[in-house]
Amino acid sequence: MQFAMSVVSFLALAFVFALGVLAAVLIAMYVVDRRQRGDAIRRNYPVIGRFRHVFSTLGEFFRQYFFAMDREEMPFNRAQRDWVERSAEGKGNTVAFGSTRNLGIPGTALFMNAAFPPLDDQFASSEPLVIGPQARTPYSAPSFFNISGMSFGALSKPAVRALSKGAAKAGIWLNTGEGGVAPYHLEGGGDVIAQIGTAKYGVRDEAGAMSDDKLRELAALDNIRMFELKLAQGAKPGKGGILPAEKVTDEIAAIRGITAGRASISPNRHLEAGDWGELLDMIAHIREVTGKPVGIKTVLGGDEAWAEFFELIVARGADSAPDFITVDGGEGGTGAAPMPLIDLVGMPIREALPLMCDMRDKHGLHARIRIIASGKMVNPSDVAWAICAGADFVTAARGFMFSLGCIQALKCNKNTCPTGITTHDGKLQRGLVVEEKYLKVANYAKQVIKEVETIAHSVGVAEPRLMTRAHVRLVQDDGRSRPMSELYPSHSHSHSHSHSHSHKL
Ligand SMILES: Cc1cc2nc3c(=O)[nH]c(=O)nc-3n(C[C@H](O)[C@H](O)[C@H](O)COP(=O)(O)O)c2cc1C
Repeated sequence: MQFAMSVVSFLALAFVFALGVLAAVLIAMYVVDRRQRGDAIRRNYPVIGRFRHVFSTLGEFFRQYFFAMDREEMPFNRAQRDWVERSAEGKGNTVAFGSTRNLGIPGTALFMNAAFPPLDDQFASSEPLVIGPQARTPYSAPSFFNISGMSFGALSKPAVRALSKGAAKAGIWLNTGEGGVAPYHLEGGGDVIAQIGTAKYGVRDEAGAMSDDKLRELAALDNIRMFELKLAQGAKPGKGGILPAEKVTDEIAAIRGITAGRASISPNRHLEAGDWGELLDMIAHIREVTGKPVGIKTVLGGDEAWAEFFELIVARGADSAPDFITVDGGEGGTGAAPMPLIDLVGMPIREALPLMCDMRDKHGLHARIRIIASGKMVNPSDVAWAICAGADFVTAARGFMFSLGCIQALKCNKNTCPTGITTHDGKLQRGLVVEEKYLKVANYAKQVIKEVETIAHSVGVAEPRLMTRAHVRLVQDDGRSRPMSELYPSHSHSHSHSHSHSHKL
């Protein structure tokens, strides 16, 4: 009895003490909030004002699970992400009952089904397309859908390894991004495009200039199929790559040829190329040294300047042309970029791609310069639209991050990515099991390719690259759709290929 009494009085005492501590903390917070000068809400509403910050931080997480509608979130909504997740898991990708997509939004692409689509035995699979026939070692690229540049640095080691093995399994290429070629890019044994960023990471000499010896060393590797000179990317046109200091590990620094623990900032353009002439000279030089196809990656800021570029190519002769141009939409993603550039600089791919294709075709360079499109091309319908518009290839970056398990936590710039994709923290990388994830990467790629083929068959052609602008209608402001071939009359209506057009039905 006495024991029970003493337990009760102990608990009562502990409770009173806890209340006292709580009151002291609240009073301290009250005083701190009232006296601080930086935050008006906390100064006017001490203690309680702190909840605003807590809730808006938590909202970031809760919205995704409870509140956001399927088609509501940005940059990618749940419907888009779920599609990638299901494909990556190799699950059937059929949905029930009907479309949840609002088909009345201006710009929506609607594919025009044929009255008499081809039968199963009239389908053809998409054939490899040659890039850079003039180079000593042209590249016959097997797939129209591939992985866009994401550097080792922005991405973690297991992420790059899984992409490399997955790309090899699916028979698609992997672009290294501007951080140089890491052993992990080569691990899978598939095709690799080596990107040369403005800081020349991986191909720079002691002084930071482009080194022909390093270029030759890379070109000697069979898996390195092409070189891509990065002029700009959609998320930050006019600004070079940014890798925050906490992500510059010893290994990354060694591969890039820079100092560990210091932010890695690339110049905002190639020092060697200040005008179109110098750019063509640089392309010719890299092609001569490496013997492999060389192209550029850019974002369209308008068409006038680029018209001059094509005129100069015609004047110098088609041989001087880049072997490919990657057009990245202004809506492109990145590991880290200033918000105004992410949001509002650069033309979106929906407008830029038809413009670039038309400029190329107008100058008779249709068969000479391949066009690669990127910018939120995550689902088959986006990829099919790009091919209809005139792209020869399409690449995705964030789509493949989703296939690796990205949950769009928007922490790529912080080294705290919860899925291990963009962090160098070993504990978080444990979540990303390469041997599982590489299969998902391959499944996703194959599923996109398969469903783009399905769209092609539905519009009445035997394979995707036979689709043209006449096969798509774009929804207008008044809710009615018009054929893309009328809105963007092109100079040449079909893709030119290494194979014949005999499949056209
Ligand atoms: C994590 C991350 C890293 C990237 N790193 C590079 C890079 O090194 N070089 C580059 O040209 N683009 C880089 N990008 C841009 C992508 O290659 C691509 O152009 C852009 O994200 C649009 O494609 P998406 O919408 O499929 O993501 C990066 C994108 C992401 C998300």
